[in-house]
Amino acid sequence: METWSRTVVLLLVITVTCSALINELPPGKEWPANNSVKQPFDDDPETTTILILSEKEPSNPIAEHLEVEGPEETIIDASLPVLRSTSPESRVDYTGAQIWKVSTQNTNVRGVIYRLRRRNLISTWGGNQSSIDILVKSNAVNNVTRVFKRERIPIEVVIEDLQQRINEENPPLDPNEVELQNRRGHRMTWKQYHRVEDIHGFMDYLAKTYPKIVSVNSIGKSYEGRDLKVLRISDGKPTNKAVFIDGGIHAREWISPATVTYFINQFAENFDVETDDIKNIDWYFLPVVNPDGYEHTHQSDRLWRKNKKPSRTTSRTCIGTDLNRNFGYRWGGKGSSGNPCSEIYRGSSAFSEPESKALSDFIKSSSANFTAYITYHSYGQYLLYPWGYDNAVPPDYKDLDELGNRMASAIRQTRGSSYQVGSSSGLLYPASGGSDDWAKGQGIRYSFTIELSDTGRYGFILPTSFIEPVARESLNGLRVLAAQVAKL
Ligand SMILES: *[C@@H]1O[C@H](CO)[C@@H](O)[C@H](O)[C@H]1NC(C)=O
Ligand SMILES: *[C@@H]1O[C@H](CO)[C@@H](O)[C@H](O)[C@H]1NC(C)=O
Ligand SMILES: *[C@@H]1O[C@H](CO)[C@@H](O)[C@H](O)[C@H]1NC(C)=O
Ligand SMILES: *[C@@H]1O[C@H](CO)[C@@H](O)[C@H](O)[C@H]1NC(C)=O
Ligand SMILES: [Zn+2]
Repeated sequence: METWSRTVVLLLVITVTCSALINELPPGKEWPANNSVKQPFDDDPETTTILILSEKEPSNPIAEHLEVEGPEETIIDASLPVLRSTSPESRVDYTGAQIWKVSTQNTNVRGVIYRLRRRNLISTWGGNQSSIDILVKSNAVNNVTRVFKRERIPIEVVIEDLQQRINEENPPLDPNEVELQNRRGHRMTWKQYHRVEDIHGFMDYLAKTYPKIVSVNSIGKSYEGRDLKVLRISDGKPTNKAVFIDGGIHAREWISPATVTYFINQFAENFDVETDDIKNIDWYFLPVVNPDGYEHTHQSDRLWRKNKKPSRTTSRTCIGTDLNRNFGYRWGGKGSSGNPCSEIYRGSSAFSEPESKALSDFIKSSSANFTAYITYHSYGQYLLYPWGYDNAVPPDYKDLDELGNRMASAIRQTRGSSYQVGSSSGLLYPASGGSDDWAKGQGIRYSFTIELSDTGRYGFILPTSFIEPVARESLNGLRVLAAQVAKL
């Protein structure tokens, strides 16, 4: 750990003079745009406002577009103020709230969803071009049901009582597991979603146990002062390429940190018998980019998405910035909001948030030859490459598409899970300020956002029995990327 820190300091000094080596494409450098793919938002505003909202913008496509076009006061709070409590001790209760899958075939659907959202009766979770997952608030179930009946829009109730699902999602470990934890020297199990303390304890344990290959470094602090811990796995060969992997940018996407820590465990515990591809890469993992939000989802509001830094509006204070709209490549464009109360609030400026700033500063100042950046989110099962900011792709998008498809096929061969591959803006909708765009803008060749399972059966509230299968198939996808990177 000591050595690494000193090396980092040294390299910081060195990179000042030769950063061009690793940052061949400075942020902001224009790449040719490709506008040939038709976007949903090309249509008239009423039908397009809601359209897709799958992953990049799972929460509020409608509010988002209002915000882009409307005056500040018409903006709708994308959060759930009816349910959300301001007291940190109390838990937000989702009893009676439901998740519905709504087909978008009926031409009325978008207008209806738009109006219900404006009245704050529903929020949107995810979906794709043909269906949308919506959260119907408990006090609105009857009225919203009536509206859909009247409009003859078929719905499928996917989750009858959201709070019940939340209660069942992450049960305590059985005594045998706890006993095992104590003998192992760390608490991670992949049979449960763990708190930040367990994840960080696990990382420190690996650094202590495998000091020759594993080191841990805090690259900064979150708004509330939690460490942003990066774990590196490397055998130190100077020819190694580097891969950066993060998770937990969005607080409620619990499967993401669980999956990233699974990779760490696999590589660190089995390094000697791992493939040459894995050994020929310097791996950097930041499993919890947004520890404040993550802790908040465990303690107060299971569906919290943003970080926890407050922002003032003209009339009130709202909490949190969407870190995946705060990165500095084409920051402030489509699919982000300037309203601090929005779920997709982009922050007051690019990298205004300590978490996104620490991540980008680390990558920029590192002398590691980062060749891939992968950020894990949920849900929807997508392998997305840039650009997100608009309907455009980088010049080498065919390489990204080809690699993405090979990763998807390795995932599918594991247990049949189907991932769709495409550019964020083309497959879903534009969303600017994403970390994957920024990484690509830095010249990192392979940049992906991976939306993990599922496709909406459980959505964000994915039971713990999914952790191992999802992580295992994701590891098989990652191995394909490692093989590609290692052979460059
Ligand atoms: C633009 O995208 C289309 C379809 O995605 C593709 O066929 C075409 O080759 C692309 N053009 C450029 C210049 O990349
Ligand atoms: C959209 O999602 C539904 C279920 O979540 C799935 O059945 C359907 O095939 C998906 N459609 C597209 C176009 O991906
Ligand atoms: C449901 O509809 C009734 C009658 O129109 C109305 O009084 C009530 O406020 C509505 N409830 C909600 C939560 O909007
Ligand atoms: C970094 O990796 C690329 C391949 O992705 C290689 O072409 C380049 O020479 C490497 N740069 C350094 C400084 O090792
Ligand atoms: Zn996300």
